[in-house]
Amino acid sequence: MINIDSGNKELKRIPLYIQGLDENIQGGVPEGHITLISGSAGTMKSSLAFNVLYHEALKGKICVYCSLEQSYKSLIKQMINMNFDMTKASLVIINDLAELRTVISKLKSKGGGGLVMVDMGCIRKEIKDVKTADNKSWLNVIKNVIKRIKEEANCNLFCLDSLSALYVLSRFENPRIELFYLFEFLRDLDVTSFLISESQPQSSRYSEFEIEEFLCDAIIHLRLTPFRRNVVREISVVKMRSTACNNDIFSLEFKHSRFQAMYGGQNPLL
Ligand SMILES: Nc1ncnc2c1ncn2[C@@H]1O[C@H](COP(=O)(O)OP(=O)(O)OP(=O)(O)O)[C@@H](O)[C@H]1O
Ligand SMILES: [Mg+2]
Repeated sequence: MINIDSGNKELKRIPLYIQGLDENIQGGVPEGHITLISGSAGTMKSSLAFNVLYHEALKGKICVYCSLEQSYKSLIKQMINMNFDMTKASLVIINDLAELRTVISKLKSKGGGGLVMVDMGCIRKEIKDVKTADNKSWLNVIKNVIKRIKEEANCNLFCLDSLSALYVLSRFENPRIELFYLFEFLRDLDVTSFLISESQPQSSRYSEFEIEEFLCDAIIHLRLTPFRRNVVREISVVKMRSTACNNDIFSLEFKHSRFQAMYGGQNPLL
């Protein structure tokens, strides 16, 4: 028999660490949910996801960031430029899956949380022969990595940067079915996931196949809006399941080492 919890138990939430927005989404995304972070080039998708994982690592969580396109070195450079202190977040890089257990146990012995960056080179190494690898190899290795980190260290948060890169590496023949199983896999693992999705400017699509928009629990949309000779960064929550949220468009700034959302529903440019 299925036991449906009818209590008014408060959902545990993960803040987005965006001042001015978290207050408008009941404090954050519900734990265990899958959030799509969608936006065109340079809209700060990676920074926004990194910001969440960084702050959760400071709070003692084990967070895994898997970057398939941008090298971890370039990503870290960007984050250091934004004043993130990598030593505070116990940043570790996984270059070789054979080292996974050692790295994780070191992290655990220190106590507290950590930010684990999975270098794409290590995934490539797992796929013995990239040229003859079948379509599923990348997806399967990524699933295996996150599953192993979950087993070794009870990973709480996961970011895949990006879904779009995954589609290039691991061609999906039947996206509806394959994406359904990928989302189910993440839900079963019980990690809070952030999937980055590259979208075109001015497009009404938030993802490649559009199915992702229905499978995910939340969509955060980032965009750059030109007005005369100014450009404003904008953020909106398109959907967030189990949350009474404000869907207004806010302007987004990264100031004094933190993200801030402002002018919800109002145009700051007029
Ligand atoms: N304080 C800051 N330090 C560094 N970069 C900043 C800062 N504020 C804004 N940015 C901008 O952030 C952008 C890059 O952010 P990020 O890499 O997170 O974007 P992205 O959407 O993931 O990009 P891509 O589409 O290339 O993956 C750059 O265009 C940079 O100008
Ligand atoms: Mg990026």
